[in-house]
Amino acid sequence: METAQSQFHEPAAHAPELSCNEATAQLEGLLSGETDLIANAANTSAFLNSILPDLNWVGFYFLHGDELVLGPFQGNPACVRIPVGRGVCGTCVATGATQRVDDVHSFPGHIACDLRSRSELVVPVRSGAKLVAVLDIDSPVPGRFSTEDQEYVEALIACFERCQFDA
Ligand code: SME
Repeated sequence: METAQSQFHEPAAHAPELSCNEATAQLEGLLSGETDLIANAANTSAFLNSILPDLNWVGFYFLHGDELVLGPFQGNPACVRIPVGRGVCGTCVATGATQRVDDVHSFPGHIACDLRSRSELVVPVRSGAKLVAVLDIDSPVPGRFSTEDQEYVEALIACFERCQFDA
């Protein structure tokens, strides 16, 4: 699959506006001293929206029992509840693994909250060993997210987890 999809990923296409180290330092500054989960998730989604080009939606879904519930986000109104195992977000919870989807139309069970979305990156958020939320990022550009983008966003989520849950 990787070979077939590599046509999407040109070097430096859609590059973030900050290096990973700069972005992590800025996010840490934004979150430090505040413990409120909603406030920190809101600022994290706004920060990601400001540094990652070519997005149409970025935000959190929190795990409540066996479903995800919409949290702070940037973008158009979105579906509120997603059962574990459904769509890209529910698959992230069911597998515990980041989902990087080059073409959402070919992802079985993809939930189309925003018809402009063509590619998607969903990263698990953990408190200790427990998965508590996912960060969902959508783009109108097919194949928007490279493996480097995945590592970049995972590093920022690791920063969010440290600030929010280890503090
Ligand atoms: N596309 C997601 C649903 C959430 S929205 O994109 C904001 C999914 O398939 O899980």
